[in-house]
Amino acid sequence: MRYAIANWKMNPRTRQEAVKIFSTVVSLAASLKGAALVVCPPYVWLPEFMGIRRARGKIALGAQDVFWAEEGAFTGEISCTMLKNFGVKFVIVGHSERREHLVESNAMVAKKLAAVLGAGLYAVLCVGERDRKEAWQEFLKEEFISALEAIHPKNLARLVVVYEPVWAISTEAGEWRADTPEDARTSIIFLRRLLADRFGVKARAVPILYGGSVNQSNIGGFAALEEISGALVGHASLDPVEFIDIAKILSQP
Ligand code: PGA
Repeated sequence: MRYAIANWKMNPRTRQEAVKIFSTVVSLAASLKGAALVVCPPYVWLPEFMGIRRARGKIALGAQDVFWAEEGAFTGEISCTMLKNFGVKFVIVGHSERREHLVESNAMVAKKLAAVLGAGLYAVLCVGERDRKEAWQEFLKEEFISALEAIHPKNLARLVVVYEPVWAISTEAGEWRADTPEDARTSIIFLRRLLADRFGVKARAVPILYGGSVNQSNIGGFAALEEISGALVGHASLDPVEFIDIAKILSQP
C-alpha cells in the first residue's frame, strides 16, 4: 500500500478553513482504496480534526514536528504523549524547512526520531540534498546515516522515509521544480542500500517516498516507478480534490 502524506506547513490561516479542507478530504477519501492517507496540519488544528476523523474517516493524523523530551522546562514545545492525546499516529521528523529555519541539526533529528519511534508512533523521516553540486550524495548519506543510528531495529516497522531534495520543494513564489522520476528513483535506490547496510533484509519493508513539488500533473511519472512508495505532498495537498487525485494515481497498481 502506498502513502499519500499531506504536509500543510503553516496553512491554512483560520480554523474554519482548516475544518473545511479536512472535511472535504475525509469525504472524498471515502471511496478510495489502495492508498494510506495521512494529513499533517499545524498542531492547533489537531483537536478539531480528531472528532471529524473519528466520525467519518479512515485518514490518519500526523504532526509536522515534535520535541524529543517527554516533559520539562521547554517553552513552546510539544511531546509525543501530548500528540497521542489527539489521535496522532505519524510525526514528520527532519523536514528541511526546520533544518534550515530552526537550525535543526542531524543530532536533534536523531533524538526526535528515537523519541517518536520509542513512543510507538510512526516517524516520517525527511532527508534530501540542498543542491546537486559536487558531493551531494555524501551530504545525503551523512544525513541519512546519522538518523538511522538512532533507530532501534525493533522499531523499524514504524519508519517511513521521504526522499525530498531541498531544491525541489515548491516555493512561496509559486515555483514548482520537481526532481525527475528517474533521478528520484536513483536516489531512492541509494537510500535503500544504506538502509539494507544498517538493518539487513528487515529494511526491505521500509517505505521510501518522494517529496518536492508533487502535483496532479507530475505524480504519474513517480507513481509509475515501483521503487517509490508514495509521496509527501506540500502545497498541492491544500486543495482536497488535487490531493485525493494524487492519492488515486498512487494507488493504481
Ligand atoms: P511541496 O512541499 O510539495 O510544496 O514542494 C513538500 C514538502 O515540503 O513537504
